[in-house]
Amino acid sequence: MSISTEQFAHAQEQELVNWVKDTASVSRILYELVEHSAMAGPLRKHLPVKPVAKALEAGVGCFGLGFLAPHLSEFVDSIDGLDPLPRLEIDLPDAALQAYVDDLRSRVNYVQTAGETMPFDSDTYDLVACINVVDHAQSPESILKEIRRVLKPGGLLAFSVSTLSTLGELKWKFNRWRRPEEWLFVAHPHTYQWRRADAMLRSLFPNVLWHDQPSLTKQLTGHGRMSYWLLQKS
Ligand SMILES: C[S@@+](CC[C@H](N)C(=O)[O-])C[C@H]1O[C@@H](n2cnc3c(N)ncnc32)[C@H](O)[C@@H]1O
Repeated sequence: MSISTEQFAHAQEQELVNWVKDTASVSRILYELVEHSAMAGPLRKHLPVKPVAKALEAGVGCFGLGFLAPHLSEFVDSIDGLDPLPRLEIDLPDAALQAYVDDLRSRVNYVQTAGETMPFDSDTYDLVACINVVDHAQSPESILKEIRRVLKPGGLLAFSVSTLSTLGELKWKFNRWRRPEEWLFVAHPHTYQWRRADAMLRSLFPNVLWHDQPSLTKQLTGHGRMSYWLLQKS
């Protein structure tokens, strides 16, 4: 399902505010560096022995760090990172952390564009990461179709999205109806329950190598969580 161009522009405005406020925050940067470590182990297990030649991070975030550079730099020769928002300067009060972050950022070739129409040739990438992006986007399905197009046959997709339980999604919709202008609701125009996200992914990538499916009880009544999949283009 897509949202209107106006609604997406509003979501992006709010998204940008959330990055701009933390360009000098050590705790936010540290959080960004470790946030998605749960995906790193399973992905490393499925990577070929030699380094991956070309990787793409779709929705890399405007710190220009993303998931691949902090977690998999030594396994990947080249990383393109795309995001519709501009890359921001980072100015930390800790010189050692700043140097570390500068080094990671220098490994990501930042391309400012939306994931729904990617300026890349088909069958280009060995690995694509799309981590915590599609519920912020204009058209999640279009992004996934583009990812499938630019991945080489046999290429891997490391994917994550926030998922809500059945009860949690009802609560989310009620609160969004009460406070539609709250940051959380504006910046997340789409919501997923685990099964819906899984069905969307499998319709394009039937070859699922790994996922962290929550129990049925958690799917019905649990807290919101980040859910992860590792998929392969046939
Ligand atoms: C929650 S952030 C996650 C950033 C990064 N993947 C991470 O995990 O740190 C969501 C990112 O998705 C980006 N985004 C939103 N819509 C997008 C789209 N249509 N195509 C690509 N990226 C998009 C946002 O601009 C934002 O940087």
